[in-house]
Amino acid sequence: MERDVKAIVKQMTLEEKAGMCSGKDFWHLKGVERLGIPEVMVSDGPHGLRKQAEEADHLGINDSIKAVCFPTACATACSFDRDLLFEMGQRIGDECQAENLSVILGPAVNIKRSPLCGRNFEYFSEDPYLASQMAAAHIKGVQSKNVGTSIKHFAANNQEHRRMSCSSEIDERTLREIYLGAFETAVKEGKPDTVMCSYNKINGEFASENHWLLTEVLRDEWGFEGYVMSDWGAVNDRVKGLKAGLELEMPASGGHTDQEIVDAVRNGELDEAVLDTAVERILNIVFKFTDNRQEGKFDKEEDHKLAAKVAEESMVLLKNEGILPLPKEGKKIAFIGKFAQKPRFQGGGSSHINSFKVTSALDAVKEITEVTYAQGYDVQEDKTDQALLKEAVRAAEEADIAVIFAGLPDLFESEGYDRSHMRMPDCQNELIREITKVQKNTVVVLHNGSPVEMPWADDVKGILEAYLCGQAVGQAEVNLLFGISNPCGKLAETIPYKLSDNPSYLNFPGDGQTVEYKEGVFVGYRYYDTKEMPVRYPFGYGLSYTTFEYRDLQVSSGEMKDTDTLKVSLKVKNTGNRAGKEIVQLYVADKTGAASRPVKELKNFTKVFLNPGEEKTVDMELDKRSFAWYCTAIHDWYAATGEYEIIAAASSKDIRLTKTVHVTATTEIPLHIHMNTTVSELMENPRTREVIQGMTESLVESMGGSSEEKESAATEAISPEMSLKMLENSPLRSFRSFMGMTTEEIEELIKKLQKAADGE
Ligand code: BGC
Repeated sequence: MERDVKAIVKQMTLEEKAGMCSGKDFWHLKGVERLGIPEVMVSDGPHGLRKQAEEADHLGINDSIKAVCFPTACATACSFDRDLLFEMGQRIGDECQAENLSVILGPAVNIKRSPLCGRNFEYFSEDPYLASQMAAAHIKGVQSKNVGTSIKHFAANNQEHRRMSCSSEIDERTLREIYLGAFETAVKEGKPDTVMCSYNKINGEFASENHWLLTEVLRDEWGFEGYVMSDWGAVNDRVKGLKAGLELEMPASGGHTDQEIVDAVRNGELDEAVLDTAVERILNIVFKFTDNRQEGKFDKEEDHKLAAKVAEESMVLLKNEGILPLPKEGKKIAFIGKFAQKPRFQGGGSSHINSFKVTSALDAVKEITEVTYAQGYDVQEDKTDQALLKEAVRAAEEADIAVIFAGLPDLFESEGYDRSHMRMPDCQNELIREITKVQKNTVVVLHNGSPVEMPWADDVKGILEAYLCGQAVGQAEVNLLFGISNPCGKLAETIPYKLSDNPSYLNFPGDGQTVEYKEGVFVGYRYYDTKEMPVRYPFGYGLSYTTFEYRDLQVSSGEMKDTDTLKVSLKVKNTGNRAGKEIVQLYVADKTGAASRPVKELKNFTKVFLNPGEEKTVDMELDKRSFAWYCTAIHDWYAATGEYEIIAAASSKDIRLTKTVHVTATTEIPLHIHMNTTVSELMENPRTREVIQGMTESLVESMGGSSEEKESAATEAISPEMSLKMLENSPLRSFRSFMGMTTEEIEELIKKLQKAADGE
């Protein structure tokens, strides 16, 4: 059905239009009955429905409808599986149709800058490429059911501490490459119906009133066509926000900010056309939903099964010294820890879902074998309960194998505040320590939304990272532990040994007013790998019950222009005796030296299923963006001419195959030459090099003495090679001192060089 939205807007009164720009209540947009504009509902999100009826709030305090909690983003990102995210999105879209929800609030793609961010469980990764790919797939899945998404929180909202007022201080390149990078592809490819702006300021300006962010980048550059809504309560100055590109304020403002908009139009401060456009954008999405209603389907049992499948594909096997898979018979197994019976499978806050059922590992294991159980610790307070500890140690001692279900209790991480350390509760660490003293066959299963320090990692034989894996978590754990399924997730973030290893350590969470992103683009593995720093488990790492071999890396060409697409292929073989899936990662390493860059960056990945002995060819592509960095001199992406290494890897620290390609830049960074331009800058540009090269020889002589005086004291002090190196750092201005040139002569030279640089 074609709607003339412009015509509808024309019929609206100023008050009605202003009213459309804020919510009716916590979850609804306003309607205008006389014009057939319906009231539509939005709801959290992102990994299931949190549809609240009465007594709405945004922190998950009041009950919402019974629904299905799928694994959270910290887990699903580890699947590295676009199709899986699409399928989960489709199912959530179906659920929304069944529940008459026009937009589901998510996915959340903020970069995991520090392991301490309380909301990391809702975010995908420390890597912008992976985060954006996962988000795009989620968005496409949901929207294939004609339900909108709201990618959030735009942008640079990487901590909870003072999240509503703090300013994220980030340089332009870092913002583009890392923090906006997580949104860019998801917006361009996923085409979300809405974007949710974040609470924080960016370089001093609230995201909710940041014209550069909401209009210049989001709409003008990335082509976003939906509407921007505020995070709940993120509006500071409503009229400024509207002008900047914030169409919808959520939740309701009690009519106050609607009145501000009306007043601003009346007193000429706000052009009514800006308001009209905002209303049009909102109505386009409202009608997109209401005019394309689908039947929807919310079969909770079916969706629970999908939640179990997604969980299985997402958990990461971190360690296995021949202990897993567990035998179904013949051995006495003890399940230890409260989380075996009552797992932690989601985080606190606005994404909290009222699960219609939860499958714990203890529930699931009953279908397979008998185990003994001991609670081991309490989650209410971090204090060792001696009776529980004793009982658990005895259970472990009496068994052949102990599986400890551990992790972070709710209080340790949540939306609304950050963690202050990276440790698990002391009582749980003590439990693991005491058990490993009596039982050498110990496995730890972790339930946490963000990495924890693992002081016991060397003392246990197996570690399964289950993250916060949704309401079917226990089913997936048991299937993986007993080898009914083969683990195939890999880490979407680095697990450092300790918090102080993290690059943001000295600058997180800032002084309360500002937080400085001083580590720049060196976030996560970009830092650890460049620093050659050992980590507990690297980005992209995860074990399987089978093994894979990589061979025959091919590229479509060894020479390419930056505008070309490079086709990359390699063969992957399952060399073990179980079917399994391997996540093959493609990193690019810039060898041109044109900019300070991480030693490598993830630019593509693929997940491949292989039967025992089977080999498949894996194909991936790389384009200009895969090679480029964000150059602030041209405010654009730039891939310098030179060599790049293409790396096929099983994790960021497990490089299997490499190939070098030569890329030729088709754009140039314009060279503006002045008194302080250095010789090395002039030598880098082929056209200015021609002009300056002849002069360098005599300069070397004047600096280091003639090359004929080989044995003199002067040449011993400064050899011609040393002079040349020093010269590279000399600015043109120094020609006055070292070459006896006059200021006028240098100015003439600058003119000549500039002409050459400009290709004249
Ligand atoms: C959160 C958003 C959420 C909104 C509505 C806010 O506090 O930051 O992620 O969608 O509340 O519940």
